[in-house]
Amino acid sequence: MLARDMTQILLLGGTGWLGQTLSRQALDRGHAVTALARGTKPFVPGVSAVIADRQAPAAYGQVAGRAWDLVIELTDRPRFAREAVQHLGGAAGNWVFVSSCSAYALQSEPGADETAGTAEPLPEAEDGEGADFGRAKSACEALSMHERNGRALVVRPGLIGGPGDPSGRSTYWPLRFAQRRDPVLVPAVPNGNAPVQIIDVRDLAAFILDAGLAGERGYVNAVGALHTLGQTLEMAREAAATVAASTGHPAPTHQLVGYDVSRMAEDRVNPWAGPTSLPLLLPQEDGYAGFARRSDARALRLGLYRRSLRQTIEEIIRGGGGIDVDSLRSGLTAAEEQMLMGRWESGPGLVARGADG
Ligand SMILES: NC(=O)c1ccc[n+]([C@@H]2O[C@H](COP(=O)([O-])OP(=O)(O)OC[C@H]3O[C@@H](n4cnc5c(N)ncnc54)[C@H](OP(=O)(O)O)[C@@H]3O)[C@@H](O)[C@H]2O)c1
Repeated sequence: MLARDMTQILLLGGTGWLGQTLSRQALDRGHAVTALARGTKPFVPGVSAVIADRQAPAAYGQVAGRAWDLVIELTDRPRFAREAVQHLGGAAGNWVFVSSCSAYALQSEPGADETAGTAEPLPEAEDGEGADFGRAKSACEALSMHERNGRALVVRPGLIGGPGDPSGRSTYWPLRFAQRRDPVLVPAVPNGNAPVQIIDVRDLAAFILDAGLAGERGYVNAVGALHTLGQTLEMAREAAATVAASTGHPAPTHQLVGYDVSRMAEDRVNPWAGPTSLPLLLPQEDGYAGFARRSDARALRLGLYRRSLRQTIEEIIRGGGGIDVDSLRSGLTAAEEQMLMGRWESGPGLVARGADG
């Protein structure tokens, strides 16, 4: 097919985890893909790489003046979002802004849909390193919609997970259960019942391409199916056994040691993400009652396909054979886990029971 007859997709970004996944899928579908980034990480082979720093005044010179079928904007910088849509938005057929469920003002209402209010948009003057992510995304959303006169789709992902998750949030528990080190420290109830909504990066990319090229408009949450953290840990344990059996190894056997989460502040263990954390565990405050419990109804109506979380977890283990859990950006290192268990043995704090009870 002649290049001019192919669907032309421009990624503003494209070298990050989602951006690379979008690139691969769009190329596999036979589209022509151009990606604009500084190139701090590799572009996917086959992509037309445009190396540009969006801080620079002429950043969009090489991609302006073309009628893109679809532009996918991945930034969290309001100035970048505004300048890009002003330079490129007039001629683009379809425009997707990849936002976040963090753009909502409140995380306290379980089941809230896309009509929930968004955070106060971050002024451009406050844009930059360390800026409030949710407010920045809210500003980017508003600018994109305004400049396109509503002819844009704002996709709000919840937690993105899958093999290669650079944050380590979705990979910690599967890879931890795939290790033979025993026992495993897990959050005790009630936080074992914390909600989990993980959207697989590959399903998210497919949805963005499908909905973007179909010309869908408006706002849509793109979140995973709802599970509890206890169910997620159980899936990780089962998937580790399945993968071991399929490679001719005995299943790892694990005792679970339930950690009393009321000790987290004292033990300097973080919820949710990052070093010395219990990944996916939500903070205790009431303000999180609706976090990871967003409505997925519109996305499903628009055709979002989601593989099962069990499948994502198994694929994380299959793809993560050589990954040392200690090297992940989230979770407990082996030494931290042992230290916390040792502290329990010498005093109160941990309770010896499984994640489900
Ligand atoms: N991870 C989650 O759970 C989660 C949840 C909700 C929403 N999201 C959103 O989902 C998207 C994930 O995207 P992603 O995985 O592809 O990763 P990303 O790291 O957010 O991608 C950012 C892209 O922008 C480019 N970039 C950054 N600064 C630039 C500059 N000054 N000039 C030109 N390009 C620049 C980066 O490339 P270079 O560094 O090479 O320039 C990269 O390609 C983001 O929009 C994120 O906010 C993520």
